[in-house]
Amino acid sequence: MSGGKIVTIQRHIMEEQSLHPEARGDFTRLLWDLVVAGKMIAREVRKAGLIDILGQAGYQNVQGEEVQKLDEYAEKTIFRAMDHGGHLCVMGSEEVPDIIPIPEKFPKGHYVLLYDPLDGSSNIDVNVSVGTIFSVYRKKTPGIDGTLDDCLQPGTELVAAGYIVYGSSTMLVYTTGHGVHGFTLDPSMGEFLLSHENIRIPPRGKIYSINEGNYNFWDDATRAYVKHVKQMDPSTGRPYSLRYIGTLVADAHRTLLKGGIFLYPMDYKDPKRPQGKLRLLYEANPMAFIIEQAGGAATTGTQRIREIQPAALHQRVPLIIGSADEVRLYERFVREGSSTGPSALAGTPAGQKAG
Ligand code: AHG
Ligand code: MN
Ligand code: MN
Repeated sequence: MSGGKIVTIQRHIMEEQSLHPEARGDFTRLLWDLVVAGKMIAREVRKAGLIDILGQAGYQNVQGEEVQKLDEYAEKTIFRAMDHGGHLCVMGSEEVPDIIPIPEKFPKGHYVLLYDPLDGSSNIDVNVSVGTIFSVYRKKTPGIDGTLDDCLQPGTELVAAGYIVYGSSTMLVYTTGHGVHGFTLDPSMGEFLLSHENIRIPPRGKIYSINEGNYNFWDDATRAYVKHVKQMDPSTGRPYSLRYIGTLVADAHRTLLKGGIFLYPMDYKDPKRPQGKLRLLYEANPMAFIIEQAGGAATTGTQRIREIQPAALHQRVPLIIGSADEVRLYERFVREGSSTGPSALAGTPAGQKAG
């Protein structure tokens, strides 16, 4: 950390509270508890190869995916860190089929937590970055106990969202609606220190991120867009670069810092999930909140992600996030629907605004 001010995430969260006059401190303590869970997961991820935490837990989750031992550890850690603090009325997790009530013996609060405890599970055993994603809503239904309706709120109602990326360093990035801020874990102290204050995503970027293996299952607009970004761009003498890690948190984090676009569009590969793979409540919405707060955009191609009214806890949506200009260009391919992309852009080199 070059001579900058030394700010711990605890202090930053405290200062964010003053921006929310209605906050009574339990929002702050909720985020503090999440930070503790993040540190514990980071510790296990860092030594996953040394303890019996690699590999599969031997059963499938509600998504029909093999649960990794680290998925299970992360799920348990977040639940145990968050179930007794008295800030939450209900939780929802990628790893749990139904909503997670707060145990009777604990006090209940005014917030809802939806989370993906371990994102990028397929990358755990090959030592590639994985992450944790969280999003926080205010309870909106009457009564003490949280309900499914409290979980099925559109992303425009989010009060906080964030992720932890367990990469070459461990970073926590979050927003409470007042900009996006990044903290790097100093493992020697066990403190997350402010390292990226007020992150802004570049308006354009020359990196596209998509699983090209699904090419044969994409819609025409996505194919046309990807064909477009592969064209030589005379202003730079090269096409876009492709970067795809296969962990949403890592691909989104790179897109946030460097600009460009990440796409997990609908694909027709699996009839059970025609809307694409990513889940609205604990992947798409939190990432959309963060990217928009940093000046970027988040869409399904035809609809702003955060305006979708959720209908189910594990609902999937197409997710296209990134630099505003890049996302708008993709939307234009979808809107104009031609197989060669927007007529005004046909032949226009990638990365240059059309007339
Ligand atoms: P999770 O491990 O929480 O199930 O999430 C995995 C997701 C997401 O992290 C990533 O963007 C996407 O799966 C990659 O999917 P493909 O392997 O189909 O590209
Ligand atoms: Mn995930
Ligand atoms: Mn997951």
